[in-house]
Amino acid sequence: MCGIVGITSNKQVTNSIINSLRKLEYRGYDSAGIATLNNGHINEVKSEGRVDVLEKNLSKSNLKGNVGIGHVRWATHGVPSTVNAHPHSSEKVSVVHNGIIENSTILKKYLIKKGHQFKSQTDTEVIVHLITEYLKKDDLKKSILKMLKKLHGSFALGIIFKDEPDLIIGARRGSPLAVGYGPNENYLGSDSYALKSMTNKISYLNDGEFCILKKDSVEFFDQKGNKVNKKILKLSSNEQSYEKGDYKHFMAKEIDEQPTTIKNCVNEYVDKINKEINIFNFPWKANEISSVVLIGCGTAYHSCLIGKYWFEKLTNLDVTVDIASEFRYRRVKFKKDALYIFVSQSGETADTFAALDLCNKNKVKTCSVVNVVESSIARESKFVLPIHCGPEIGVASTKAFLGQMLVLYILSLKIAKMRKEIDKKIYQEKINSLFDLSKLTNNSLETDSKIQSVCSSFVNIKGSMFLGRGLSFPIALEGALKLKELAYVHAEGYPAGEMKHGPLALIEEGMPVVVLAPRDEYYKKTISNMQEVIARGAKVLLITNKSKDEIHSENIWEKIEVENTSEDLLPFLITIPLQKLAYYSAFKKGYDIDKPRNLAKSVTVE
Ligand code: AGP
Repeated sequence: MCGIVGITSNKQVTNSIINSLRKLEYRGYDSAGIATLNNGHINEVKSEGRVDVLEKNLSKSNLKGNVGIGHVRWATHGVPSTVNAHPHSSEKVSVVHNGIIENSTILKKYLIKKGHQFKSQTDTEVIVHLITEYLKKDDLKKSILKMLKKLHGSFALGIIFKDEPDLIIGARRGSPLAVGYGPNENYLGSDSYALKSMTNKISYLNDGEFCILKKDSVEFFDQKGNKVNKKILKLSSNEQSYEKGDYKHFMAKEIDEQPTTIKNCVNEYVDKINKEINIFNFPWKANEISSVVLIGCGTAYHSCLIGKYWFEKLTNLDVTVDIASEFRYRRVKFKKDALYIFVSQSGETADTFAALDLCNKNKVKTCSVVNVVESSIARESKFVLPIHCGPEIGVASTKAFLGQMLVLYILSLKIAKMRKEIDKKIYQEKINSLFDLSKLTNNSLETDSKIQSVCSSFVNIKGSMFLGRGLSFPIALEGALKLKELAYVHAEGYPAGEMKHGPLALIEEGMPVVVLAPRDEYYKKTISNMQEVIARGAKVLLITNKSKDEIHSENIWEKIEVENTSEDLLPFLITIPLQKLAYYSAFKKGYDIDKPRNLAKSVTVE
């Protein structure tokens, strides 16, 4: 949420900052801005809306400088507007900020008393005035340390100074921040993706650290101001996976990539010859784990819910699932023999990270399932299982969801085997079916024409329901979330068996309802629930798998049949039509599919 970039160089930096802001737009896109230092003056250009608007404004302003900071915003304090857009500047200092300053109201009162005047409604502006105030008496480093000590909340900061012609300060607490190294220039960025076109040499700031960037040097400090040594990491360069290619939207590309990402992930974790799972250095023995706690947010939380079904069935362990933003504030009893699994595509989600941090502080076993292996969550967990999906740029998570489910399934098989809870033959069968999964998901992709014909019924409606039982219930939640976030249609995922306990009252003539009824152990029950909603006037889109058995129900509006596979793996196949349903519904409405309103890809505020 919010993207930061900073460049100090011996060349002009404006164009490179704009290019990096484009890469960071997935983090926020309600306004954007840039500030540079030129001939001892801080100049800024800001605008409401996307980076494209900022670029147009820049062309009129002739902003120059060898040092600069830029920002894309996802509003927290203050409406999206030019005045609230970052950077925020005084005559002496300019600041870009990602995060929330929780004590900004108190600090603002104190600063107003000292004679400072505020222009915006943001929490960020207190940082500008605090530094300006401290610089009256103290040197730069001391002023920064004093300012950081005053702030409560989470932040990543980029700061430039009128009197420091070559210098950028970066600081982080809670929100991520990376430093990049280039020839005669150095960079600051919210993530390595923003810096990738300029460098593949990166370091990450740890929580509480700050750094001083000059064009030919970088120094890191801890929260007491002591110097810290940093490793420089080399990033693999695969620029192609960051491009849309011939696709209209990243989301369409990412949906289509799913067979490949499944194949890559299976190849990474499953040994085809020995029919074994390749998770070699798993740090814990079977008798050290007696329960599992799965934690995530949004789509990642849904994959945790599915994980629960697999872990319970295969490992015979006690399994609980938690939403990270709830877990972190509850009085949780930490268990030494529990395995806490954190699921996150970005690996930067603030609540998931805070939940992990809490677990680490309580010295319990932590493992993460992430897409971004350089992320904070990956770096802070004891054991990491990457999902090997490649970059996911569309705000709506698609291929990462399948990747998260796949890794959780593979891990549940691994633990089931460790605990001797699974019969050898069944284990081998389950491993074998993983090798066919990629091909089978390919067939689920061929549902476009049917989905395109039904999606007009989901476009202008009061609301819709997505129903499923067992493994299909979390998929129903995920299908409803996708329709909400992309087509801005109210949709609810519900356990099909719960309908008659209240929500059945919502069903009215012509309401589109998606029923997920793959032929698993719940099939007949779900079909009965489907009949109940049809009887009350619902138009049912049934998603099931192919079978010779007739479906004993009349008046189904539309039916989509995915391929057959083992019951465990059917969730992968029935998810894809739901992703397409949300995509085409949003497309029909002409919405911005990759950047839905009010949202951002990486939720780095709580
Ligand atoms: C899903 O489409 C989302 N946009 C959102 O729910 C997302 O899954 C959630 O914010 C968690 O993100 P993470 O996986 O990066 O932690």
